[in-house]
Amino acid sequence: MPCINYFQIVGEVISASINSIAESKNISYESAHREVLNHLRNNSAQWNSGRQPQIQYEDPLCRIAYLYGMVPANANLIEYVLRTDRELAESIDQIHAENGQINICAFGGGPGTELLGLAKWLEKRNLGYPMVVDFLILDQVSEWLDTWQAIQRQMDLRLRRNYGANRNSWPINVSRGFCPFDITNTENFGNLGNVFGQDIYIFSYVVSEIFDLAPDLRRTISEIADRTPSGSKFLFVERREQRWVNAIERLAEEAGISISEPRNTSSNMDTDEEKTDLGQIYYDVQSILGTSYNPRITWNAFWIIGTKD
Ligand SMILES: C[S@@+](CC[C@H](N)C(=O)[O-])C[C@H]1O[C@@H](n2cnc3c(N)ncnc32)[C@H](O)[C@@H]1O
Repeated sequence: MPCINYFQIVGEVISASINSIAESKNISYESAHREVLNHLRNNSAQWNSGRQPQIQYEDPLCRIAYLYGMVPANANLIEYVLRTDRELAESIDQIHAENGQINICAFGGGPGTELLGLAKWLEKRNLGYPMVVDFLILDQVSEWLDTWQAIQRQMDLRLRRNYGANRNSWPINVSRGFCPFDITNTENFGNLGNVFGQDIYIFSYVVSEIFDLAPDLRRTISEIADRTPSGSKFLFVERREQRWVNAIERLAEEAGISISEPRNTSSNMDTDEEKTDLGQIYYDVQSILGTSYNPRITWNAFWIIGTKD
C-alpha cells in the first residue's frame, strides 16, 4: 500500500490549518465549516455556470474547500494520465536518465495537485531510486504557496516514516519554486527567465478556469513555446467538453506545438482512496452542519500531450 494517500494528506493539511484560519478571521470553528460548505457550493455552481468561473481563492476557506472537494480526484487523474500515457511516461524517464532530474512547471498548480499525482505514481512504480523533480509553480494566487508547502510537508513526513530519513531511499526528491504569476499577463515575462527551460509544462483544469482570457492565454503559451527547447512537453488536462478541446487545439496551433489526439477518461478514484480518510473535516461538515457534502471521487476528462516542434 503506498504511503502517499490523497485524502489522508489533504485531510491532515486541512485539520492542521482550519483552527488558525477561524482564529485569524475571528469566527467560530462552526462558522469556518459553514463558510467552507458555502464555498464548495458556490464553486460548483461557478464551474457549471457556462461563464468564466469566479472563485475566491484568495480566501483561505475557499482554498480549504478546493482541497476538500477537488484536489484528491484531480491528483488521482494526474496519476492516471501518467500511468496510462506511455509516451509521456517514457519521455519523463528518458529526460531523468539523461539529466539526473526532471523540471516541471505547473501553471495554476498552487494547490499541489500535480505534485501529489506525480509522487503517488512514482511511489507505486517502485523504481528503486528517487526521481529528482524540480517543480516550478506559477499561480496567480500567491496564498497557495502556504497550501503547497503544507502538502509537501505532509508528504515528506509520510515518506520519512515509510522509507527512513535518507532521501535517497524515497521514490521522489522534490525541490520547489513558487512564483506568483498571472498566466494572462505576458508583461510578467521579463522576470521569468527561469520558466523557459522546463521539460514539462502542466495545465490541469486551467484552460477552463480562464476561458474569457483565452487570447491572453494563447499569447502566454506562444511566448513560452518560442523560448523553450524543442521536444519540451505540454500536458493539458481538462473537463471533457469539446470547447476545451477546440481551445487547446487552437492555442497549440498558434504556438507551434504538435499535439496528440485528445484521450478521454471517465473513471473513479483508485480503490485505495477513501473519502472518509479526509478525517475530521469530513465528519465535521456533516455533524456540525447537519448536511453531507461529498468530495468529488470521479472524473470525466480528457488529456492532450503537446510537443514543442
Ligand atoms: C481549477 S484550479 C486547478 C488547480 C490544479 N491545477 C488542479 O488541477 O487541481 C485553477 C488554478 O488556476 C489558478 N489561476 C486562475 N487564474 C489564473 C491566472 N490568470 N494566472 C495564473 N493562475 C491562475 C488558480 O489560483 C488555481 O490554482
